[in-house]
Amino acid sequence: MNQVKRIGILTSGGDAPGMNAAVRATVRTALSLGIQCVGIRRGWNGLIHSDFVRMDSDSVSHILDRGGTVLYTARSEEFMTPEGRQQALATCKLLGLDGIVAIGGDGTFRGALELSRLGIPVVGIPATIDNDIGCTNYTIGFDTACNTAVECIDKLRDTMQSHERCSLVEVMGRRAGFLALYVGIAVGATAVLVPEREFDFQRDVVERIQESRLAGNTHFMIVVAEGVGSAFEIGKKIHEVVGIDPRVTVLGHIQRGGSPTARDRETASRMGYAAVQAMAGGHGSCIIGTTEGRLTEIPIEEALTMTKRLQMDRYTVMETMHNQPSAL
Ligand code: F6P
Repeated sequence: MNQVKRIGILTSGGDAPGMNAAVRATVRTALSLGIQCVGIRRGWNGLIHSDFVRMDSDSVSHILDRGGTVLYTARSEEFMTPEGRQQALATCKLLGLDGIVAIGGDGTFRGALELSRLGIPVVGIPATIDNDIGCTNYTIGFDTACNTAVECIDKLRDTMQSHERCSLVEVMGRRAGFLALYVGIAVGATAVLVPEREFDFQRDVVERIQESRLAGNTHFMIVVAEGVGSAFEIGKKIHEVVGIDPRVTVLGHIQRGGSPTARDRETASRMGYAAVQAMAGGHGSCIIGTTEGRLTEIPIEEALTMTKRLQMDRYTVMETMHNQPSAL
């Protein structure tokens, strides 16, 4: 028999397109099992400060296609303190919550582990444009962010090509280069700089531009993950060393907005469904993940020890796609 009568739902950390689709799926699946839903606003802060809203089926109508999160989001310093977590626990008790579905990234799940240690089961749904969660191949929002960045860079290429310029585009990813590498392959970049690979200016930039020139190219597109360093600084160095005057574009938060792609909506819907099934089934605190198209449930403590490496074979693909000097 289902012991779970009421759950809380929150979104936390940097927002990601598809979070709303996950909220909708969680609410509608819970209601279908006779479980009531309370929306906790502004991430873990909402649990500390009793900032909540009752959710029914209508409250999640027309949000499937919307970017951002209707529950708002935040990174909570207060939740990192024992006092903050005790306050959050008190709110869970006051609201009669039997568990929480937390949608977010690494920081969100570290908070989830702490709350689960106080006796509140938490099921996590991975959503971040960085795709840097170890226990899952895919995180909600990544596909939309890739497509947004590709659309912007395609536009940039038009003007770079006309002026025969070098373009440096900084994409998000403080610690992870998934976004930079996928986007770099998709736009046919001259070079991609990621935090996972030691940066060698001569090898990774100068030689790539020189080879590209030899192959007859007159414009160059370099994608830089923000974790590598400032694209403006790299641009200055290109000017000094290579003698060309690059233009720098920082895509910034535009990458986190926009209507989620079909992939993000579909993944979010399945993950929301699976999260409530796990909660109702009393499976304990875990994170929903995806491996080879299958959904997985990994105990939260174990999930947080897992790491994911950037696939360097993709890096080789990017390098190989480079225009080669003609043999003739
Ligand atoms: O959510 C992840 C992320 O978008 C990173 O790629 C980026 O470094 C960071 O968030 C930016 O955070 P903020 O919104 O606080 O500037």
